[in-house]
Formats: sequence, C-alpha cells, structure tokens
Amino acid sequence: MGDIKKIGVLTSGGDAPGMNAAVRSVVRSSVYNEIECFGIYKGYHGLINGIIKKLDARSVNNIINKGGTILKTARCKDFREKSGREKAYNNIKSHGIDCLVVIGGDGSFTGAMIFSNEYDIPVIGIPGTIDNDILGTKYTIGYDTALNTVVESIDKIRDTAISHNRLFFVEVMGRDAGHIALNAGIGAGAEEILIPEENMGLDRLLESLKNSQKSGKSSSIVVVAEGDKTGKNVFEIASYVENNMPEYEVRVSVLGHMQRGGAPSCFDRVLASRMGVYAVENLLKGKNNVMVGIENDKLILSPLEQAVKGQTEVNKNLIRVSEILSI
Ligand code: F6P
Repeated sequence: MGDIKKIGVLTSGGDAPGMNAAVRSVVRSSVYNEIECFGIYKGYHGLINGIIKKLDARSVNNIINKGGTILKTARCKDFREKSGREKAYNNIKSHGIDCLVVIGGDGSFTGAMIFSNEYDIPVIGIPGTIDNDILGTKYTIGYDTALNTVVESIDKIRDTAISHNRLFFVEVMGRDAGHIALNAGIGAGAEEILIPEENMGLDRLLESLKNSQKSGKSSSIVVVAEGDKTGKNVFEIASYVENNMPEYEVRVSVLGHMQRGGAPSCFDRVLASRMGVYAVENLLKGKNNVMVGIENDKLILSPLEQAVKGQTEVNKNLIRVSEILSI
C-alpha cells in the first residue's frame, strides 16, 4: 500500500450507463482508504491537457442513478501518439498522481497498457461498455441497462408492427459483437436475430420469414446487430426481403445512441460499485496492468493485455433457443 497516495480516475471511449456509479465507487473507496482521488475530464484528452480536479466523497453525491459520465469522455487520437502520452505523463507528475483507474472498453485499455509500460504508472481497468465484448469479464458495466433499453424499445415497435401487419428490422449496437442483439432479441421475442458471429445468409433469412408467414404470423421483428455481415447494412437486408416478399410492408428502425443513455439498472449500479472498490483495493496491493472482471459472481483480475486482444464469445446455445422459440 505504502507508495500510493493519489489515484487518478477517468472514463474513456463510448459512455455506458453505470460509469458514474463506478466513478463514485472509486472516489469513495479512495477516501475510505485515506487516498486522494483526482478526476481526469474527457478521458485521455483531459490527461494530455491537464483537465484534472480533486474529488472528495461529496463530489460524487447523487450520481449513482445518472446515465452518461460526469467526468465526460472522448475517443482521443492524440493519446495514440508518443508526444501525447509524454504530455499526459508530465500532467500526472505535476499533480503527484501515482496511478490510474481507467473505466472504458478495449480501445481505452490499449492506451492504458502502452502508457503504463512506457512510464511505469500502475493502471487498473474497469470494463465499461454497452457492447459486453471484453475478454476477462462475463459482464461489462452498461450492458444490462442497454439490454433493457433495447427490449423496452422493441416492445413498443411490436405494438405498431402488429397494428399494421408489418415486418420490422431493428438495428442494435454492439460494434463487432452480437451480445446485445442475441440477448435482447430473445428477450423481445424476435423472429430472427442476425449477429456478426453467425452469418445466416439472406436466402435462409428469407426462407425462415416465408415459413413463419405460412404458419400464420402477420407481423415480425428481425433484430440486426450493427456488425452483422448478412448484408451491407440493415437497409440493404430490409430491401432484399421487401423485394422478395412484396406482400409484407417492411420498415427499418435503427435504435442508435439512445441505447447508451438512461439511468443504469440496479445490476449495473451494483456491478460498478463492486468493481470500483475492488480496483482501488488492488491498486493499493500493488497490482498493475490488470482489468477487473466478474466471473461466477466473483470479482477477478486479468491482464490488460488479454482484455485488449480478445472478445468474449456469444453463447451459441442462445442461437438454438431463439430458433426453437421463433417457430
Ligand atoms: O462501443 C460502444 C458503441 O456504442 C458501439 O456499440 C458503437 O458501435 C459505437 O460505440 C458508436 O460509437 P460513437 O458513439 O463514437 O458513434
């Protein structure tokens, strides 16, 4: 514990609901352990430009329920340059910050790892992204909230789809991963779920939609992950189906950034709170270049190097569940 007196915390990359709960947890755990905590604003941009402010237990009042991140966030190109990281190091030293907690996704962790290796600054990552695509944790902060947001939105789309006998293609986020599409698709009772991990092909999609129409379905929801490779994009997939099933009225709905907003679910608040405490405790134990994760309800650490190299696999059993239930 001895050497650490000041911890810096930042959020980086795409914001995710629950990031504020994680910031609150890091700040209050630091204060609890009699360590000073500094908020670094706008991710690595704030580190490079010295936008750094001391936070105390009261600075994080009333944020556990808030979406977004009070520290702001950015995808910072300058931190990829050696010159940017040098400025960041100088700012860290001038504030006397000994180590960093980085809340973000794999891009943010890549920067953290390079920086830590270059300047011997201990870093711990906390996975915050709605995509749930980070190796070393079953769940990332924000994923559960995003799932609930998507399910709630599709429930609403279903009301109008039924009323008009329409076929809806709903695009959801997830970058190159299909976790949101697959889980929210099952939760919302989608007819078909298209994910990057399993290219079903346009012909099979068409066949399946024709079969379900024959079996008496008059409206349907197809969930399409933004990274899916079945067509070029959701609009192309939709018009292919529309051209081949002219009897159906087809509509496309791209849910977009609303999936990243909103109050975090209880699951995300608890996950973020636990991860923040664990991150600070492990920094004080001298851990470095690791990411906090959760497996079987236990908090674990894994090398940041692993988190930036791999992606968690989608649960292929869920594909079967969806196929069986969408007859
Ligand atoms: O990583 C989170 C995420 O929302 C992805 O699902 C999506 O592909 C991407 O960020 C969008 O990024 P931006 O907000 O920079 O457009």
